[in-house]
Amino acid sequence: MGDGSLNAITEPAFAKINLALHVLGRRADGYHELDSIVAFASVGDLITVKEARETVLEISGPFAAAVPANVQNIALQAHAKLKLLYQSHGAALPPVHIHLVKNLPVASGIGGGSADAAAVLRALLKLFPANLSDDEIAQYALQIGADVPVCFNQKTCRMQGVGEKLTFPKLDLPRAIVLANPNLPLSTPDVFRALGLSICQSYNPPLDPKNQLTWRNDLTAAAIKCRPEIAQVLAALKPCRMVRMTGSGATCFGLFENIEEAENLAKSIAGDYPAWWVQAARLG
Ligand code: C5P
Repeated sequence: MGDGSLNAITEPAFAKINLALHVLGRRADGYHELDSIVAFASVGDLITVKEARETVLEISGPFAAAVPANVQNIALQAHAKLKLLYQSHGAALPPVHIHLVKNLPVASGIGGGSADAAAVLRALLKLFPANLSDDEIAQYALQIGADVPVCFNQKTCRMQGVGEKLTFPKLDLPRAIVLANPNLPLSTPDVFRALGLSICQSYNPPLDPKNQLTWRNDLTAAAIKCRPEIAQVLAALKPCRMVRMTGSGATCFGLFENIEEAENLAKSIAGDYPAWWVQAARLG
């Protein structure tokens, strides 16, 4: 197969929304023990993968300029690491052309690179089926990034540990979401650092999946320390039923029962703050 192959797989990389993000404490290895409810919004990047003569990443879309098209991009790292896993099973993973349409703002708490890497992984496993167990795939996904396993599944779930434990409680959630980002990137490690937990320090108790009113994002205050504009974004979303920050920020969201209400608020916020990235979407 050459570059003109018709065998291409396109996978959406939907925005990951932490409806709740409780920090339980800090582990001995420096990572934070989390308890989170994760859902996905119907806006995202798009990944198309096809076999090629050499591995190349091509990026287009409104936020293309903000992401590297070289080995620093975890979409390419996902291919390189999966190649090693295939080799350890005596299988070959061919070079591929990856096209990423970058629709979502980067370093914004909605999965971004993790969702892209997870979409590359889904596409590669479909294009080049291999005899890998679900456990092997899950462990491999976690090695690429803590949020890659949840983005690989791309289903509403409870995520625990550093991101490796996924369960699927029955949840009754609103159907529509407004996402707003001040168009200012925010680094995840900087926010965890601003939280200031020491090694092995306990922090907050686990969440109650049945009691949405008690769901919080424990990174909010630390993120506002790094990016005070987040407080303004949360205030702009006030008319929504539940307003929170997602991930390590700076994207915040509000939930609505129907998409029309979400679209109306998105239009009004975009009018008031033309420099922000604002989207209404369905919540899956
Ligand atoms: O795994 P990933 O590269 O996405 O994580 C980025 C950074 O966020 C980590 O290097 C770590 O500093 C921090 N992090 C953490 N605890 C987590 C997830 C991420 O401390 N559960």
